[in-house]
Amino acid sequence: MQIQHEVSLKAHNTFGIDVKAQKFIEVTQLTELQELLIHTTEPILILGGGSNVLFTQDYEGLVIKIKLKGIDILKEEGDSVWLKVAAGEVWHELVLHCVENGYGGIENLSLIPGTVGAAPMQNIGAYGVEIREVLESVEAVQRSTGEIQVFNNESCNFGYRESVFKNIHKDAYVITAVTLKLSKNPSFNTSYGAIQDTLKANEVDTLSLKAISDAVCQIRNSKLPNPAEIGNAGSFFKNPVIPQAQFEALKERFPNIVGYPLPEAQVKVPAGWLIEQSGWKGKRFGNIGVHARQALVLVNYGGGNGAEIRKLSQDIQASVLEKFGIEIKPEINIV
Ligand code: FAD
Ligand code: EPU
Repeated sequence: MQIQHEVSLKAHNTFGIDVKAQKFIEVTQLTELQELLIHTTEPILILGGGSNVLFTQDYEGLVIKIKLKGIDILKEEGDSVWLKVAAGEVWHELVLHCVENGYGGIENLSLIPGTVGAAPMQNIGAYGVEIREVLESVEAVQRSTGEIQVFNNESCNFGYRESVFKNIHKDAYVITAVTLKLSKNPSFNTSYGAIQDTLKANEVDTLSLKAISDAVCQIRNSKLPNPAEIGNAGSFFKNPVIPQAQFEALKERFPNIVGYPLPEAQVKVPAGWLIEQSGWKGKRFGNIGVHARQALVLVNYGGGNGAEIRKLSQDIQASVLEKFGIEIKPEINIV
């Protein structure tokens, strides 16, 4: 593909923000990507499905959309199968492929938008599972040299919505493929209450990868706005983690506060609860707002711009800080 000029990114981000890229190209070949990385002098932005970015202005540089494709079985041993998946594969299509073929491990991550290559960036997670639990390695091209490097699970330094690619190696690598170790004899993870309730409502008595995947899709469809209908990027903020003592003190003042205990006397507090209690849920301001069913999701009803969504997010942060003394931080990437 040729480099295109002055391209609207509206169709390339799930918020549906209409900004322009000075230059834009979709890459389908690894060598083409390496060439571009080595020879481009202007700033480069890597884009997958655009489901975790907020564009606040036109991009003065080259946007490279990753379209590398391929799903290969690397190895099968006992109950395990190692799948190498190219970065441009659509994540949910990979999940469906695995469910159909009986490869367990990512069924709880059904319906997360975006590409396989972006999945390790923030260690995608949902319904009791994170990608780090099945990720064997990440193949990436170093932007400065064009050379391929392999990161094993440990060297990705995964955390809650975190990895080296989002912090110390930010903008240093382009992920080109991911290898997952999946199981042909999976142990199902139904630890999340909503999954159990949905399986029961669906009268599922024999667990299967498909039953879990279907249940997760059902739960997600009932809560989260479909970006094809209302622009959004999923959770705008991360759920804050606070010391147990701070949580106990807050519970004195706010007896209904929700919290999930973590190791080392820490508690994860749902940001959606904090935002709802601060009065933002369902509020609309012109073309943008806070989703009515999920306060953690900021939305673009159409025609909204990124700068005003960022401003709304800052107002929300300030009011949560004032009411609860808790700083909530964006999960999404603001460009
Ligand atoms: P993009 O938005 O295109 O990119 C995200 C970031 O990664 C950018 O900084 C980009 O530069 C960088 N990047 C992208 N591809 C590469 C690559 N190949 N190499 C290097 N850098 C790259 N996330 C969850 O974890 N759990 C959820 O449950 C969840 N639910 C969501 C629900 C909805 C409705 C939406 C819209 C989003 C949701 N998300 C969720 C967020 C999002 O789907 C994930 O973060 C996803 O992995 C982003 O993939 P993408 O291809 O769209 O990335
Ligand atoms: N809540 C409210 N009001 C709201 C929303 C939530 O009070 O408007 C409270 C409720 O107590 C609810 C709790 O928050 O029980 C948790 O809500 P939910 O189960 O919807 O999950 P979440 O914490 O808001 C997280 C992830 C999602 C992921 C779900 C399911 C983060 C930042 N978000 O959301 O990931 O799909 O759990 O596991 O961790 C994303 O990252 O984009 C994303 C959607």
